[in-house]
Amino acid sequence: MTYAIVFSSRTGNTKLLADTLLSTLPGEECIYWGEPSPEALKAEKLYVGFWTDKGTCDEGVANFLHQVTNQQVFLFGTAGFGGAPAYFDQILGRVEANLEGRGTVVGRFMCQGKMPQAVRDRYAAMEESPRRTAMLENFDRALSHPDQADLDALRAAL
Ligand SMILES: Cc1cc2nc3c(=O)[nH]c(=O)nc-3n(C[C@H](O)[C@H](O)[C@H](O)COP(=O)(O)O)c2cc1C
Repeated sequence: MTYAIVFSSRTGNTKLLADTLLSTLPGEECIYWGEPSPEALKAEKLYVGFWTDKGTCDEGVANFLHQVTNQQVFLFGTAGFGGAPAYFDQILGRVEANLEGRGTVVGRFMCQGKMPQAVRDRYAAMEESPRRTAMLENFDRALSHPDQADLDALRAAL
């Protein structure tokens, strides 16, 4: 079955997942790997990767999902906040809603992804509070992700 790997990645986390897919899936069936492009729509199966922007996928991926017709779709993404599967489910639900019932979702995967130091500096400048502490702890937990266990889990989800 022909497939395409389509993804948006500003700081490399989601690209790491896309690289893992490329090295795991059969190379001869891959017709496209790269940023959202109509060229990818020729594939029978679409692996669509996003970074989380305000609780949903980035705009480039949302626009791409609007163009899906009857392909199989595997969604994968990264988010700065991790630790709660329900949080990832919520994001994936919003991302999937861009399909409006088109295509067939055959798999979904998300993991945490590190954030830029400027984000930590912003948290650190906030007034001391339990929320500030939680955000700093989450930032530091995210620093190692996506890690090897995340990439293994992605392979297992295929
Ligand atoms: C403008 C902006 C908005 C973001 N919004 C969220 C968000 O709502 N929820 C979240 O968990 N992470 C959010 N993040 C964190 C990124 O989704 C996360 O670091 C992701 O792994 C980045 O992926 P990339 O390296 O592929 O660009 C945001 C990051 C940026 C820059």
